[in-house]
Amino acid sequence: MSILKKLENDVKKIINKAGYEVENFVLETSNRRDLGEYQINNAMQLAKIYHQNPREIAEKIVKELEKDSRFTNINIAGPGFINISIDNQYMIDILNEINKDVYSNIDKKEKKKIIIDYGGANVAKALHVGHLRSANIGEALKRLAILLGYDALGDAHLGDFGRPLGLVIKEIKDMYPNLPYFDENYKGDYSEIDLPITNEDLERIYPLASNKAKEDEKYLEEAREITVKFQQYERGYYDLLKKIVDISKEDIKKTYEELNVHFEIWNGESDEMKFFKPLNEQCEKMGVLTDSEGAKIIEVAKEDDNAPMPPLMYVKSNGSVSYDTTDLATILERKINVNPEEIWYVVDGRQSLHFEQVFRASRRAKLVEDNVVLEHIGFGTMNGKDGKPFKTRDGGVMPLKTLINLVSEETEKRISSESIDAEEKKSIAKTVAIAALKYADLLPFRSTDYIFEIEKFSDLDGKTGPYLLYSTIRMKSLLKKAEQANIEATNITKLKGETEKDIALTVLNLPISLEKSLETKSLNEIAEYIYKLTSFYNKFYAENKIIGEEDKELQSSWLVLTKVVYQINTMLLDTLGIEVPDKM
Ligand code: ARG
Repeated sequence: MSILKKLENDVKKIINKAGYEVENFVLETSNRRDLGEYQINNAMQLAKIYHQNPREIAEKIVKELEKDSRFTNINIAGPGFINISIDNQYMIDILNEINKDVYSNIDKKEKKKIIIDYGGANVAKALHVGHLRSANIGEALKRLAILLGYDALGDAHLGDFGRPLGLVIKEIKDMYPNLPYFDENYKGDYSEIDLPITNEDLERIYPLASNKAKEDEKYLEEAREITVKFQQYERGYYDLLKKIVDISKEDIKKTYEELNVHFEIWNGESDEMKFFKPLNEQCEKMGVLTDSEGAKIIEVAKEDDNAPMPPLMYVKSNGSVSYDTTDLATILERKINVNPEEIWYVVDGRQSLHFEQVFRASRRAKLVEDNVVLEHIGFGTMNGKDGKPFKTRDGGVMPLKTLINLVSEETEKRISSESIDAEEKKSIAKTVAIAALKYADLLPFRSTDYIFEIEKFSDLDGKTGPYLLYSTIRMKSLLKKAEQANIEATNITKLKGETEKDIALTVLNLPISLEKSLETKSLNEIAEYIYKLTSFYNKFYAENKIIGEEDKELQSSWLVLTKVVYQINTMLLDTLGIEVPDKM
């Protein structure tokens, strides 16, 4: 249990001693520190329950609080709001405890198994900015869930079973008609065939094929037929698909790794669809399939819907399946192989209808028990200055790699060049660029759209990733300098100054931001928190000359305070999936 929570429990017991029972007690943080650091606002509610005057209740509680040396500046405002502050010595004890173990101020949740679906990269297509938000938010949510004690697994859920691959294979077939994959009589082992195609080729082939299909109905029709073939795991076509997946996956992995995004599960839709048979049996058993003009659908509308809810397309009349069915098969596969208590889908908010259909269908078909949580964690778009989803200058979708390079060029201009050679500088610039992108992406509430502003995101000053990295690195080098000078830094014994107090309170209040972030499944609370803590620290840093301080006790206290902030910063940046370079 966090130190803050323990403190709350103690206050709850004190209220109890005064003769009152409160449920779900929380200390409210106050923004008027002069009046009190926290507020206890329960007297009004207790007045109704106990039929007493709220002011009198507050007085009785205050009397009990005054007996506890951990609290100070206890006063009553208005009809019965109690203000209290934390005694200085107690705050020192708290900081020392957190310095020894940062996790001592974190509330662990009861263990729960969660799968987080936040990849969605499409095989044979370059990752684009749309995948960036899934990856950033999903990876950070997973890290937060793990920090708070959950058992969370990330699933890349590669898109490798749809029409785009049908198009790619159609084009490959036109380019190399003699490949054994297309030869019905080939009896050999496909894994021995050398496919003369690289990932770069694949990224070129898809747009080419897609354009051809727009103009040539026959071409499109053949791509559709090919799609049905590999979806039915037809020999040759399915083997070629697997080969393409292997080539493309390697590159996809590299890009995710560059973003510090890692998946525990690397299944693709094509792996998940192997569960189509049990899925189909279950759907038939539950009687949810309806015939509709040669296709099979699942009705998901409910009587009290106030917007149209189209049925889920289960199998099209030509025998192919879409995203709807692969997502259903995936739920069943996850149930069988992992049996999670929750599945979170971190996918663009514009796909909410799709997920509503999938969730309703899986409830109707009872693919998972009723208490398994299925949640679409939607997000807004990253827009260009024109307010529309971010594009390249010529209006195309911007590949993620291009975006990362663009921001790297910007951050490279801003990092110091002293004692850093050109190559190292490039690599640091990239780490800083990714921090800039990630922090800007996690700062707004997740469902809000935001505008891509490269200069603002890369700024070393302001609410940015680079500012946080720069400040955190500076804390680290201060600590290193002190260590090299053999300056003692083991305990806080003195805590004076308003800014130090601001830091201390922010440190103590960490569990509030973690809780809010988890509750809303949005990282903005944590992003704001790191900024607040860092800004207080930087103010303190500017106000004092730590290395030159003559009062050794004060100097040691300051260094330990620095250690506390440094530890929290690195822990939280890591939770956001942001890497801190050694220097910049
Ligand atoms: N591949 C999809 C796309 O690029 C995203 C997949 C999202 N995840 C899911 N389980 N449907 O749009």
